[in-house]
Amino acid sequence: MNKKIAVLAGDGIGPEVTKQAIKVLDAIGKKFGHQFEYTDAPVGATAIDQTGNPLPKETLDLCLASDAILFGAIGHPKYDNDPNAKVRPEQGLLALRKELGLFANIRPVSAYDNLLHLSPLQKDRIKGVDILILRELTGGIYFGDKGRENDGTTAFDVCKYHEFEIERIAKLAFEYARQRRKKVTLVDKANVLETSRLWRDKVSKMAADYPDIELDFMFVDNAAMQLIQYPSHFDVMLTSNMFGDILSDEASVIAGSMGLLPSASIGVHTSMFEPIHGSYPQAAGKDVANPMAAILSAAMMLDALELTEEGNVIRKAVKEVLEAGIGTEELKPEKVCGCEEIGDLIAAKI
Ligand code: IPM
Ligand code: MG
Repeated sequence: MNKKIAVLAGDGIGPEVTKQAIKVLDAIGKKFGHQFEYTDAPVGATAIDQTGNPLPKETLDLCLASDAILFGAIGHPKYDNDPNAKVRPEQGLLALRKELGLFANIRPVSAYDNLLHLSPLQKDRIKGVDILILRELTGGIYFGDKGRENDGTTAFDVCKYHEFEIERIAKLAFEYARQRRKKVTLVDKANVLETSRLWRDKVSKMAADYPDIELDFMFVDNAAMQLIQYPSHFDVMLTSNMFGDILSDEASVIAGSMGLLPSASIGVHTSMFEPIHGSYPQAAGKDVANPMAAILSAAMMLDALELTEEGNVIRKAVKEVLEAGIGTEELKPEKVCGCEEIGDLIAAKI
């Protein structure tokens, strides 16, 4: 199989972790006889430095012409601390999601048995946890009208959802649940927000077509608590853009490190695969970042390209490395390795 992969490594540790994902993909290519053809393109702060635009047209065109996108990370502190910055790296990511119609962000969260001690949560609560967060990614408060009024002393961000936006991601949630433990929890704030009531309305009606799936509703404040207290009660968690952003960071505590969690964003055009962690600028270039989230994102990419066996080979290799007590420093493993070395070890296992 021959696949064109757009590589948007981005900022901070993005390039070094993405390099390891490519190393691992090449090992897969060699083992299974696939050809992955990579093309790099700038995005985020790196793209602003080069072109003034966090998502240059050439980058978007490349993505549209590719079979999949490997994304590293974006963000730079010089923008974080400047509320008046005219242009921000994050705008590149948001524009990419919108332009490609990536309406569903899929974030699997599970706990590795030998890493349970890394989580601040009690071991017996997180053992065996396996949650799939489905976050709506191109609507809601992220993309509604926003602005300032009254000489800048008043600001607003509108949260708006159309029924079709709810329907297409809810359909995915039910379908994923069918392959898993057959439960969908819709997380919202229907006691306060009209958009949440529309979500409940629509998703409840759709549930009639999925009689084998248990549909559950939970207010987001309660869900934030339950996720920590009884994480094993969740299977597929379906939620809007902003709630999904917050809950997925919270859920990463279960895995013990953000450096382990991959994600896939799928929708209308080319799908994109990225670690859930950010650009971690303090660690950039120091060879200490954990590349496993990027490598596991590459595995999700293979699943989406219908190369499931290949994806499983990557996940098995990562698990074996972790079980051998090897990892980057934040995992406090028996043997600490650098980012490059972890990539080498996983590729060698393949
Ligand atoms: C994420 C990130 C982004 C988001 C930022 C970088 C815009 O936090 O992918 O979760 O809020 O969606
Ligand atoms: Mg986030």
